[in-house]
Amino acid sequence: MINQNKIEPIIQFDAVTMAFEGGNTVFSDLNLSVPQGSFHFLTGMSGAGKSTFLKMVYLHQAQTEGSVFIFGRNSQHIQHAEIPHLRRKIGVVFQDFRLIPHLNALDNVALPLKVRGVDARKARKQAAELLEWVGLQDALYRLPQSLSGGQQQRVAIARAVIGRPQILLADEPTGNVDDDIALKLLYLFEELHKVGTTVIVATHNRSLPHSFKHPEIFLENGKVTIINAHKK
Ligand SMILES: Nc1ncnc2c1ncn2[C@@H]1O[C@H](COP(=O)(O)OP(=O)(O)OP(=O)(O)O)[C@@H](O)[C@H]1O
Ligand SMILES: [Mg+2]
Repeated sequence: MINQNKIEPIIQFDAVTMAFEGGNTVFSDLNLSVPQGSFHFLTGMSGAGKSTFLKMVYLHQAQTEGSVFIFGRNSQHIQHAEIPHLRRKIGVVFQDFRLIPHLNALDNVALPLKVRGVDARKARKQAAELLEWVGLQDALYRLPQSLSGGQQQRVAIARAVIGRPQILLADEPTGNVDDDIALKLLYLFEELHKVGTTVIVATHNRSLPHSFKHPEIFLENGKVTIINAHKK
């Protein structure tokens, strides 16, 4: 079990089973508590269920059995109309980036701030600073389709962190970049973690967590194991 230190879990899975139509059961009877402010790597082989897990947390995929609690709320009791509001508190880097195709890099990154009512000029200024930090200062006005996979990934990361979310979910965020950039991006997540964000980084790269002092949520055969729970 994760060392909870009596801190409220911000994410909780109680006896969760996830079976896709056609009989593919990804999880069965999954129990897990993620304490507020913690940092976990989410590991497991390709197909183990990492993306499915993150989608359930993002309220993008409903479980077939059991209960999922996010911010202490049972996902089954969350009204459809409330979901956008809850999602504003979650920064997410999708495995396939999901940038908005008709917005340039700068406007993609500024979007979460604009949605919250931040003045457009201020939002763009912050977005530009962040894009510079991830090494994309020369790509501010380019559309996603003109960027490489690794560049799109960095735009997606900048967009996920700009609003200082309460939860950051990153699905293979370093899968398309060189090792030095990967470390820099993880450093960005560390900075958010230090100011209280709960971070979950999915990766099938089992060696990545070794460089960090964070436990691993390891998925295998529909079950979960916490590895290095003492690392915090
Ligand atoms: N919409 C879906 N319909 C049916 N099966 C699905 C669906 N989404 C995922 N699956 C199946 O669920 C399992 C877990 O998939 P998931 O994408 O969560 O794995 P993953 O750990 O993220 O893998 P990867 O490392 O390749 O990204 C796989 O067997 C996959 O085929
Ligand atoms: Mg995946």
